Amino acid sequence: MEKNKEILFTGSDTEGGITSGYQMNDGVPLKVPYSFFGSIYDEEEERAVKVAMAQESQTMGPQVTLFQREFAKIFEVKHAMAASNCTTAMHAATQAFGIGKGDEVIVTPNTFIATSLVILKEGAKPVYADIDPLTFNIDPKQIENKITPKTKAIYVVHYAGQMCDMDPIMEIAKKHKLFVLEDCAHAAGSKYKGRPAGSIGDVGCFSFHSLKNITTLGEGGMITTNSDDLADKLQRMRVMSITHWNPGQTKFEFAGFKMEKKSVKDYWLPSHFDVINDNGKWGCNYRMNESQAAVGRAQLRKLDMLINKRRENSHYLNEGIKKIKGVRPVFEDPNCYHAFHLYTLLIKGNELGASRDDFMRVLYQEEGIQGIQHYQPNYHFTGLKKMYNYPDKLCPVAENFFYNEHTSLPMNPRLTKADLDMIIEGVRNTADKLRK
Ligand SMILES: Cc1ncc(COP(=O)(O)O)c(C=O)c1O
Repeated sequence: MEKNKEILFTGSDTEGGITSGYQMNDGVPLKVPYSFFGSIYDEEEERAVKVAMAQESQTMGPQVTLFQREFAKIFEVKHAMAASNCTTAMHAATQAFGIGKGDEVIVTPNTFIATSLVILKEGAKPVYADIDPLTFNIDPKQIENKITPKTKAIYVVHYAGQMCDMDPIMEIAKKHKLFVLEDCAHAAGSKYKGRPAGSIGDVGCFSFHSLKNITTLGEGGMITTNSDDLADKLQRMRVMSITHWNPGQTKFEFAGFKMEKKSVKDYWLPSHFDVINDNGKWGCNYRMNESQAAVGRAQLRKLDMLINKRRENSHYLNEGIKKIKGVRPVFEDPNCYHAFHLYTLLIKGNELGASRDDFMRVLYQEEGIQGIQHYQPNYHFTGLKKMYNYPDKLCPVAENFFYNEHTSLPMNPRLTKADLDMIIEGVRNTADKLRK
């Protein structure tokens, strides 16, 4: 496939601060940039797109149906529904849970804004529970303190591809009759006690954005659930509140217009679909198209290989980094199969005698290794702060993690041994320079 010339961004030509790549037009020569493509494509994906493009149906056709079926099997769930992205998937789930004005949802502060946004969009309040200092996932011990009579759900994120401690979270949810949404944007291929991400909570929502473990042409999502009732509602929320007319009904009347359905062959009667309202919630168009689904199917066949590569790369980095004074690789929970969507590095300022930001400057400008920050506690964003006046030090562990200690080193399945060695060398040189 012919490649377009890469466009380097200056910061002003981005989509509201989000780019389609992290490389900047700032003159810094990079040895290992943070790639915006988290997967591997080959002839299989190219063939898949061609097959989908030759079909009569370009949306809602066989590729989507098969992608959903194959996904449900691999992720061990009853229902899988393709969506346009993870944000719309989570929005549909928030609506299907019936969450609305005056409700509260307990959520991790250490997430991309999408997880908070879907709560805000329905008029509910995100209530932030602090994270565990080892895994950076929501801390189950912090959740119970945050429950009030207004709490309707707990939204967890399997940060970096290491799953949350789901057993205590599900116990708390059961005790207080709360829904659990698993934001699995980082967690395609992750497991908790042998169970796949998205199969434990009431609903799981996956992202197939360009950066993610598998991608469907840059955007895409999947909703998983084992509940027939939620699946029914989710279907309407993702497809315009559309439903079937009562299949047993043969006589219809609208404004005096009478019609009779004499057999199923009168397919146009009374009309192609009905529209219903689910307790005040209206659906939207959150569908995935056929080419994306065809690529998704090819990506599913590569899932094990892609995650193995991420794990091998991350374990190689761990070995190289663990001997360097002043930095730490992330803790791996023995209950979890870590998919290493992100490779988390902790920078210990007191050991280095320098701050995380000093570390980042040297790592980037002098060593050519590009780290990326995930995630600013969501309650520090201007809009959220203004709306709910969240206090400072609301989640001190998450704040210390983001502002003092963390960076994500380049991680994707296409990194070579030479790339990994350059990352390790860059981290070592940076730490050595700062300690002097
Ligand atoms: C944790 C998390 N949740 C949700 C999303 C949103 O995913 P999408 O871009 O598919 O809407 C992302 C994407 O970066 C994410 O990292």
